[in-house]
Amino acid sequence: MIAGNDSFTERLEEEIADFHQSEAALIYNSGYDANVGLFSCLPQRGDTIISDEYIHASIIDGIRLSHAQRYVFKHNDLQSLENKLELAKGRIFIAVESLYSMDGDEAPLLQIAELAKNYNAALIVDEAHATGIFGNKGRGLVEELGLCDQVFARVITFGKALGTHGAVILGSKQFRSYLINFSRSLIYSTASGFLNHLAVKLAYDLLKKQDYQTEIKERITLFRNTIKPQIRLQEGRSPIQIILIEGNQKAKEAEFRIQEAGYDVRAILSPTVPEGLERIRICLHNHNTKDEIINLCKELNKIL
Ligand SMILES: Cc1ncc(COP(=O)(O)O)c(C=O)c1O
Repeated sequence: MIAGNDSFTERLEEEIADFHQSEAALIYNSGYDANVGLFSCLPQRGDTIISDEYIHASIIDGIRLSHAQRYVFKHNDLQSLENKLELAKGRIFIAVESLYSMDGDEAPLLQIAELAKNYNAALIVDEAHATGIFGNKGRGLVEELGLCDQVFARVITFGKALGTHGAVILGSKQFRSYLINFSRSLIYSTASGFLNHLAVKLAYDLLKKQDYQTEIKERITLFRNTIKPQIRLQEGRSPIQIILIEGNQKAKEAEFRIQEAGYDVRAILSPTVPEGLERIRICLHNHNTKDEIINLCKELNKIL
């Protein structure tokens, strides 16, 4: 803030904004910082924030630091969202993720954007898990659905598909300037350095050059087609694939046996997820070979 801006970083922000079809972008040290910095400073006393019940902890923490009224709507439930919109006062903000990490399911963004328009609410979408996966060259679900102009702000994180570190908030130039002046996690934390920004730039260069999306889609299709039908595989076209296994004990046993077979697969237990919805969460990557995926499915088909 005192020493001025770095031109490489400013150019990178412009490049990222262009890539995601946004007017402006502002880099943060992490997705956690971005969400805390955004939600703590944007909604004011007398305003209302309505968030999905499964929203990421960083958004919850940001909302807690704001003076706005908070309502939570049932996960991906449009009626529940509308009920809260009817109660809302002041300026209204809706916070959702485009792809949820524990269920691998997508927000019904088209309908949520429509509701936001009807109630004059600003829609904020965290694209942490959708970046690199959905949209043209991995621009995210907002771009895939043609909603770039209808979403007030997007949070893109670099620590997942991009394999680096940090995050960016996408929005208008005016909003970027507001954040620079009021977003405390940006103002009161040392900015990340050149080497990290270089890594982010190279990651974006690779995204533009290579068709990672087709590669991952092939792996997801292979996985879904090789799992036997008796297994409770949840719907989902993302690399986050969920198999429901009722009960912590059973889920832990399955995790142990899959790990014994050499796969880094994790069980998600209650109370992290509701009781009865315990699960094995599989994250597919482009570096997983087709043989690895087929063998993982064979193990799962044997164990479950
Ligand atoms: C949806 C979502 N938003 C934000 C974050 C925070 O990002 P970061 O790890 O860069 O702090 C995460 C996870 O890390 C996330 O899953």
